Amino acid sequence: MDIKNLISSAVEARKSAYAPYSKFKVGAALLTSNGKIYKGFNIENSAYSACNCAERTAFFRAMCDEEKNFEAIAIVGGPEYEMSSFKSYTPPCGVCRQVMREFCNPNKFEIILAKSVSDYEQFTLEQLLPNSFGPENLN
Ligand code: THU
Repeated sequence: MDIKNLISSAVEARKSAYAPYSKFKVGAALLTSNGKIYKGFNIENSAYSACNCAERTAFFRAMCDEEKNFEAIAIVGGPEYEMSSFKSYTPPCGVCRQVMREFCNPNKFEIILAKSVSDYEQFTLEQLLPNSFGPENLN
């Protein structure tokens, strides 16, 4: 996996974020098992509860292309004036973690939180969402 390229894609995606309310822009780049990258960004709404996170935008775009196997996601975020390197990591919210859980193996799926292409932390979904509820719990 080319982590630097995945982070660059997240930085690129973030440029299109629609975040006029929080002014906090997030970009995500989702890597499929066949090597494709789907970009996503946060899309806010004047009715705040209708906001969509960058990670879910990336997942739902990929699902629309019938992609169902995912390897990793890179996430970058920060106040809109930050451009390509960021003061803090942006961990995925709980709802996004649960969406990942629906489609990814928690022990294999990698979540890369980046401040820049050379400054990042890597976690499995299991580390960020331990003892989770998933599709097999309904069997
Ligand atoms: N946000 C994301 O897009 N992803 C995250 O992982 C955390 C939060 C967005 C939602 C909202 O548009 C803004 O960041 C501030 O919460």
